[in-house]
Amino acid sequence: MQRTHVNGELRISDVGKKVTLIGWVAKRRNLGSLVFIDLRDRTGITQILIDEKLTDEVKNVRNEYILEVTGTVIERTSKNKNIPTGDIEVKAEKVVIINSANQTPFIIADETDALEDTRLKYRYLDLRRPVLQQKLFTRAKIVKAMHQYLDDNGFIEVETPILAKSTPEGARDYLVPSRVHPGSFYALPQSPQQFKQLLMVAGFERYYQVARCFRDEDLRADRQLDFTQLDIEMSFMSQDEILTMTEGLLKKVMKDVKGIDIETPFRRFTYKYAMNTYGSDKPDTRFDLKFTELKEVFANSEFKAFTDGLAKDGTIKAMVIDNADKYSRKDIDHLTELAKKNGAKGLVVLKYHDGSLQGSAVKFFTEKECADMIAKLQLKENQMVLITAGNWIKASTALGALRNYFGKNLHLYDPQTFDFLWIVDFPLLEYSEEDQRYYSVHHPFTRPNDEDLPLLDTDPLAVRSYAYDIVLNGYELGGGSLRIYDCDMQEKMFELLSLSKEEIENRFGFFIDALKYGTPPHGGLALGLDRVAMILTNSDSLRDVIAFPKNANAKCPMSDAPTPVDQKQLDELHIKVVE
Ligand code: AMO
Repeated sequence: MQRTHVNGELRISDVGKKVTLIGWVAKRRNLGSLVFIDLRDRTGITQILIDEKLTDEVKNVRNEYILEVTGTVIERTSKNKNIPTGDIEVKAEKVVIINSANQTPFIIADETDALEDTRLKYRYLDLRRPVLQQKLFTRAKIVKAMHQYLDDNGFIEVETPILAKSTPEGARDYLVPSRVHPGSFYALPQSPQQFKQLLMVAGFERYYQVARCFRDEDLRADRQLDFTQLDIEMSFMSQDEILTMTEGLLKKVMKDVKGIDIETPFRRFTYKYAMNTYGSDKPDTRFDLKFTELKEVFANSEFKAFTDGLAKDGTIKAMVIDNADKYSRKDIDHLTELAKKNGAKGLVVLKYHDGSLQGSAVKFFTEKECADMIAKLQLKENQMVLITAGNWIKASTALGALRNYFGKNLHLYDPQTFDFLWIVDFPLLEYSEEDQRYYSVHHPFTRPNDEDLPLLDTDPLAVRSYAYDIVLNGYELGGGSLRIYDCDMQEKMFELLSLSKEEIENRFGFFIDALKYGTPPHGGLALGLDRVAMILTNSDSLRDVIAFPKNANAKCPMSDAPTPVDQKQLDELHIKVVE
């Protein structure tokens, strides 16, 4: 099999050349005594013209057969402007059938109405669709740019174990039973967090890895069970220097992959500002819809819906939307449902017409409150005001969900824009009422902000950390932090997280020990590679940029994994399955 060209290659300047092409039959049309075949490979499609002399040889050829065609490039009489090879076709002189194919369960084309589970069951056919092939090529280009940038900047790529000890990143671990050590388990890494820190202890200074990570969590469009991070760690770098290094990386990726020059430095919002202004720690900043705090306006209000909002950890937040008359009673019910689904107790909806506010809540407001609100929000004719009130995080998040809803439905942004953003100054800890204990907002290795150290004992929830997230178009693309490099502080952190001395010793003893041998100040981050690829290919789901993903049910419809295993295997692993 010797091809002279690939199928996306031939142009009008090649007319007259004798060529040999190989590819899959994407389409076959019979036109009287002539047969036209679209021959496809990963580079594109070339039209093959087969005249009456050869039609016998191809009479059984169907879609997805593999052919080797030798012939001459000729100019087409009716050109196809939609494909790069549309000016020419190849007049076949010899056709060899390299392999036949069964009828495929769906047509191999960009547009498909096949169900996703059918596509995943026959993923190898789904992946023949040019649109998916392009996405994987783009993903590979992203990884290549990352390797190049990090290599140019003195980073060393190091692999870390897949069979490891549990790393707490907030999700459930996947456990792997040990045959040799009955009753003991490895954990698949949720990230290489501890290993990369140990590589800093070891003195490598700049590490990276395209790392497979495993988290047993509920799946969403932007979450998979096994996914890939670009994992990075650096020693002797300030937070600013780490952010700048990451910006350089993303700048190169955007240039190499999309041909876009993005501006650096990226904007930096504190967590507080982002939550207050956009109701999200991953705000979509492609559109400029902001919130206004109304706590002052309603400081003396006795309106029951606002009472919780007036508490110390409360908020009363408003968002203003144009064209109020477009929204019916039904629309408003829908918005209220959406706010409640996202944690709000309710939604106050007001419309502004002819200089006055309308809505069922208005009767609870004084005239001064109405006037102050109109002034503060600078309301204009026919605007609608949406207000959530209550616990700061809950009320802000709920209004944030409405903001995203309007962004999408009112087409407030250009889908081709890429707006990178840093969120900094995350709180170190959050409190779980349910478990009655603190949890790390990032992970337990994150360094508390030096200025807030005195608050660790008195007001832990007020302590900020040196943690940062990189956000793109409303998605958390990655996150990282400066790390604790002092073993006493690390131990204190585990204690704050309510781990007993024994648990600390059993789970993290080796790690705390390592910090005792001259640990450099260090920090880093991890970018979700699948998410980067998803956004840069304008995909709606991670599944579009992962060759063999799990479905929403955490299954692989192709291999059917996970499946039961033989009793013999279980016996060897000392495992008994209880029905
Ligand atoms: P974090 O847990 O924030 O940080 O993860 C970093 C990035 O990984 C991606 N990501 C996922 N992608 C797909 N499916 C998932 N289930 C999934 N979970 C996370 C996201 C996320 O921003 N060890 C730290 C990093 C550090 O501190 O250096 C960590 O893993 O894009």
